[in-house]
Amino acid sequence: MDDLVVVDQLCKQFGSLKALDGLTLHIPRGLIFGLVGPNGSGKTTLIRVLLGLLAPTSGTVEVLGDRWPAISQRARIGYMPQLEGLYLDLTVEENTLFFASIYGLRGGERHRRIKEVLELADLADRRRTKVEFLSGGLRQRLSLACALLHEPELLLLDEPTVGVDPQLRQTFWQYFHELGAKGCTLIVSTHYLEEANHCQQLALLHFGRLLIKDTPAAIRIAAGEESLEKAFLKLSQEVSRVH
Ligand SMILES: Nc1ncnc2c1ncn2[C@@H]1O[C@H](COP(=O)(O)OP(=O)(O)OP(=O)(O)O)[C@@H](O)[C@H]1O
Ligand SMILES: [Mg+2]
Repeated sequence: MDDLVVVDQLCKQFGSLKALDGLTLHIPRGLIFGLVGPNGSGKTTLIRVLLGLLAPTSGTVEVLGDRWPAISQRARIGYMPQLEGLYLDLTVEENTLFFASIYGLRGGERHRRIKEVLELADLADRRRTKVEFLSGGLRQRLSLACALLHEPELLLLDEPTVGVDPQLRQTFWQYFHELGAKGCTLIVSTHYLEEANHCQQLALLHFGRLLIKDTPAAIRIAAGEESLEKAFLKLSQEVSRVH
């Protein structure tokens, strides 16, 4: 299997706190891969390590075939941060221009992609609005649009649907599936377990360790539960009892 991300025995410590604790995880190409786990279980830390923003304390990390920090692969990776990375005092269009320049888009291609992502995010008629005047959901839409500008092969989405209304969430997931069908690999962290059912594979993290990695259906069956939410609560409680 062609793995886009290979994490082996990854530890990330902040002082004495082990945010990632011997995590081993392989993520195949072309999947929508979900990261789930309680607050503080290491999802954002893992995403930031994959992006090269945080250095591993120990263990190895490969992204798109390159050893960490895989700088030369940055142009193939898109990132939507958990806390929005937009410039509030710039307009919608100025934000897209800024990110397009960072990703090295120029001239006609830059113009074409900005137009496309703004239409996709349904923000074309807001392009001259300053981001500080946009609602939370509209900002999420813009944040996703900015992550897609350079048509990345690997998309890292850290809780992309927080604060997004149900209708728009559905639109986001439809779009994630379309991207997946085009061969993009998506790594998506979420607390919404009904959404996690959209993922082809899921990893459940717990105190920086991998509790289980499988398809949503296999995880439900393994836990003997009908819903993912109950399955995850059960699996997390079982391991808490052991520790
Ligand atoms: N820069 C940092 N300095 C110190 N501790 C940190 C830092 N970043 C994260 N941590 C700690 O590492 C642990 C894992 O945090 P992380 O943000 O990865 O969790 P998460 O699974 O993304 O949680 P959430 O669901 O709340 O977003 C937490 O205990 C957090 O407080
Ligand atoms: Mg997080």
